[in-house]
Amino acid sequence: MPFVKVATLAEVPSGRAKPVSVQGWQIALIRVNDHIHAIADCCPHKQLPLSPGLVAGCEIVCPWHAARFDITTGAVLGPPARSAVRTFQVQVVGDDVEVEVP
Ligand code: FES
Repeated sequence: MPFVKVATLAEVPSGRAKPVSVQGWQIALIRVNDHIHAIADCCPHKQLPLSPGLVAGCEIVCPWHAARFDITTGAVLGPPARSAVRTFQVQVVGDDVEVEVP
């Protein structure tokens, strides 16, 4: 699957998610310990955007009903969500952030 440029490094802040749209996917880019992670910008609980959520360490809290997810794995850490959020592979080439899209 191809990697597609979605942002530059400077566009991905610390402490909050940057939403991007690529090839029909809504994705949240999140910087954790100088690594960029990409998760679906869609909470599996009610399919609402995760990107406005609070980022704390390697966790993001859904802004709608407070489900918590591990940004690095997508694993659900707290209810009411019961399933993991999808993750995407990320590579950084120079200053470009690229995501592998299906
Ligand atoms: S939509 Fe995320 S917890 Fe409900």
